[in-house]
Amino acid sequence: MDIVLSGIRPTGNLHLGNYFGALRNFKKMQYENTCYFFIADYHSLTTHPTPENFQGNVKQALVEYLAAGIDPEAATIYVQSDLPQTAELYLLLNMNAYMGELQKVTTFKDKARKQPENINAGLLTYPTLMAADILIHRSHKVPVGKDQEQHLEMTRTFARRFNRMYKVDYFPEPVAYNFGEELVKIPGLDGSGKMGKSEGEGNAIFLADDPKVIRKKVMRAVSDAGPTEKNSVKPDPIQNLFKLMEAVSEKETIDFFEEKYNNCEIRYGDMKKQLAEDIIQFTAPIREKIIELNANDVYIKKVMDMGKEKAMVSGVKTISEVRKIIGFRP
Ligand code: TYM
Repeated sequence: MDIVLSGIRPTGNLHLGNYFGALRNFKKMQYENTCYFFIADYHSLTTHPTPENFQGNVKQALVEYLAAGIDPEAATIYVQSDLPQTAELYLLLNMNAYMGELQKVTTFKDKARKQPENINAGLLTYPTLMAADILIHRSHKVPVGKDQEQHLEMTRTFARRFNRMYKVDYFPEPVAYNFGEELVKIPGLDGSGKMGKSEGEGNAIFLADDPKVIRKKVMRAVSDAGPTEKNSVKPDPIQNLFKLMEAVSEKETIDFFEEKYNNCEIRYGDMKKQLAEDIIQFTAPIREKIIELNANDVYIKKVMDMGKEKAMVSGVKTISEVRKIIGFRP
């Protein structure tokens, strides 16, 4: 049986990108595998959140995972900082992680460009912490979006390096997973390639958005004047609208607008109206569940406590085996 793990940073509401990149695949796998899903609160410290909103963000993330269909009875859902063994493994892996390889990581270079006033060591060693998250349960498969591919490659490097240094076959080499298919990248509504929480107003549709907000965001999505030649290649913003449709709409709907596009008869207003209604239909049950769970603090605390207890079993075992392999005092 495979060990599957995934996680999300608690830095705002979950959007459709998070859902299709990570949650949907995880949901499909949770009944057939040993599954861990965690809230990456250590990771979120790289952007210096204040203690006032920290707990609230963690709770919000948990509520939204549960609403999106992660089952705390089947999977182990936990808060990263409730498993401090992760931090110990992070320290140990950092001793064999090299500046050169860490500085080359795309997400580090992006962050360094976006927040030049705050390029901290946590950002640089983000891939080692992520490797620790994955290796602490000796995971095999990691359902994530396309943006995390390079982090998984680093995790494999660290796992191999550990095995080689200590002449063991201890850590598996985990893979970013989407049932053998290309990893997913959900585009933003602003014409940009990626839906993301920090990409600016109107880029992302959040699972908690109400229908009015969804309609407004989709109607404002970037488009153009329409094709003038039959069967022409779609420019990026139009490609994006179709990609979003592929995620939430029926095949007939997509085929209908494809045909309109190819015949230069497309009216983006109509397409957006349809897309908005399909997104609303898709997110409605999740939104209802978010509202219901938000009112149930007792249950949320119970889920966190249960997750912590289950995650500890595997985390404590791995750390004690790793300490033994390295040669620490028993
Ligand atoms: P984060 O919080 O940025 O995103 C959480 C998950 O959502 C996916 N995702 C997307 N997928 C497709 N299209 C998009 N537009 C899109 N936007 C986000 C991400 O790929 C991710 O799967 N480093 C991670 C959190 C993390 C983690 C881990 C994940 C920490 N340790 C260990 C897996 C395993 C992150 O920042 O995700």
